Amino acid sequence: MYGKAVVFLVSIASISARTTNMLLETEMPPSCYGKSYCFEKTEKYPQKLIDNIIAKLDPPVVEGEGGMSIAHRDDQDAEHGCERRVIFEPIFEILDKDSNVRYVVQSDRFTQKIRTEACVHPGRITSANWASHAAYLEKSHIQDYNISCVEKRIDYSFLALSLDGNSLEDVDVQGGVPVCCSCRISKL
Ligand SMILES: *[C@@H]1O[C@H](CO)[C@@H](O)[C@H](O)[C@H]1NC(C)=O
Repeated sequence: MYGKAVVFLVSIASISARTTNMLLETEMPPSCYGKSYCFEKTEKYPQKLIDNIIAKLDPPVVEGEGGMSIAHRDDQDAEHGCERRVIFEPIFEILDKDSNVRYVVQSDRFTQKIRTEACVHPGRITSANWASHAAYLEKSHIQDYNISCVEKRIDYSFLALSLDGNSLEDVDVQGGVPVCCSCRISKL
């Protein structure tokens, strides 16, 4: 009788230890190596675990869509400066301040999105990478000026799975999320 109970407890303990190890060893999907957030949902994403925790929450997680978008802007006007990539999709993985990869809570009933705007070619425009800016920039400009594509980031946190896999918590994204790519110019 006791034997059975003990075996049962031990198996629960080893499952949760395995979950914890699995969560601690999580890596960014290959397409997102070196990034602090990722839009890709891989087969490792623990959807069942997250759905189970959400189902047990009391009060339940708000229905509908979470997330926010920075005020709508006219994105047609790409000619004036740096090429930008705007994405407004659910984020599935983020890097926390301790560089652990964390699973962001996404489910049928609860999605978290933020409008990100990243520079397609961040950094200073030089003769080596001028070609990708040739549509709006003359080559002579980059000899007289330091013209750089700079991302502006804001601090942002997502509801994410705790590292022990037992609960949900707010987690800050390391380095924040880019919400604006701008062109910065100074005379050399
Ligand atoms: C050019 O401007 C960028 C962005 O302001 C700055 O980070 C960089 O240090 C500057 N480089 C030079 C050579 O002035």
